[in-house]
Amino acid sequence: MSQFDIIHENQNNFAKSNLNYLKGMFGATDVMPLWIADMDFEIAKPIQEALQTLVTRNMYAYEFNTDEVFKAIADWNLKCHQLKLNPKSFIQVSGVLTGIGVLIRELTEKGDGILVQTPVYHQFFKVIESAGRKVIHNKLKVVAGQYQMDFEDMERKLKTLNIKAILLCNPHNPVGRVWTKQELQKLVDLTNKYNVTIISDEIHSGIVYSKSQFNSIASLTNSDNHIAVLGSPAKTFGMQSISNGYLYIPNKETHKQVKNTIGSLYLDHGNILSANATIAAYTKGEEWLDDLLAYLEKTMHWIENFMQKELPEVTLFKPEGTYQIWLDFSKLNLSDAALKHLVVHQAKLALTPGDWFESSHTQFMRMNVASPLAKIQQAFHQLKKAVDAGVDCSFNQNANTNDCCSC
Ligand SMILES: Cc1ncc(COP(=O)(O)O)c(C=O)c1O
Repeated sequence: MSQFDIIHENQNNFAKSNLNYLKGMFGATDVMPLWIADMDFEIAKPIQEALQTLVTRNMYAYEFNTDEVFKAIADWNLKCHQLKLNPKSFIQVSGVLTGIGVLIRELTEKGDGILVQTPVYHQFFKVIESAGRKVIHNKLKVVAGQYQMDFEDMERKLKTLNIKAILLCNPHNPVGRVWTKQELQKLVDLTNKYNVTIISDEIHSGIVYSKSQFNSIASLTNSDNHIAVLGSPAKTFGMQSISNGYLYIPNKETHKQVKNTIGSLYLDHGNILSANATIAAYTKGEEWLDDLLAYLEKTMHWIENFMQKELPEVTLFKPEGTYQIWLDFSKLNLSDAALKHLVVHQAKLALTPGDWFESSHTQFMRMNVASPLAKIQQAFHQLKKAVDAGVDCSFNQNANTNDCCSC
């Protein structure tokens, strides 16, 4: 039995299983929570030990460890991605979204456009709009069953709209693409041509499966380019609530400008629990991560087989990276309300609604599969049972009658 097979009780304080959240988001509490992108696994032993050392010490004087953190991140990138990073180009931030919020404010003006490739992580809309900038949608297109960047649409928009930055998500949440070198190079060429900054959110870069290879935008650019990379050990090592984020800005002037602002707001203080957990993760977490990736690949394989045989009506976009799967339910021919009813009230699953990531994706849902395989299997059996049964009679009286059974 693998350590990842152990089923841990869901805690009411966890956002994903908090009853008030579930009720508010899904209108039900008796659902399996597979919506938030965090793991149902215990963190790696070396991270546990680093935290326990601090907790048993019981002293929390001012203590900063950023140089060691940056060295650990740089060493990790060299080892895992053959990417040489300059430890002097990092800036610590309290989280990736904080970093994006600061970058948008520092590198663009109010009213400027920021391009995002939709469907995309829904907080991107908030972080852009709350800074008074405009979200410019560059929809991904599906070609032969795979999501791809639409460079023609991107160039048209870069040429005609007042776009100052692209907020890239690599690996992409929710569609699971790990962008290839060629795709990223095209993106870099276009942004150079139109003098646009790339803000690259690489928070999912540790979860990449064996057939794909992660390439940071930093590997295709140099200090003359306008790029900023954001990362964090949160997703890779399941450290969501004890994680800091970091920025990597190779251009010296931009680095200085952003660092000054972050320093003036004291957003770079961090805390020693996160710092030492990060160091432990990046220096001693590799073996655990290898085991996790093997486990997740096995889970993906099971899902793919099951869906082919038992749920052919639902289309799976198998991820190259991230522990989320993107499901298309449109072949079921249900109204949006009927689909929601089927998934939430019949299959008893809390999945992330696709329209959070782009408004037209009402027939899509994202499922987090970083859970013991037995739980994922149960979720799929529940889904199959509901799909086979069709929308039941308890479905809201006002619904389109075509969606319901004949009763
Ligand atoms: C693409 C992406 N960026 C950022 C975050 C959140 O990062 P943080 O909690 O460090 O702000 C998430 C969380 O799901 C994410 O998927």
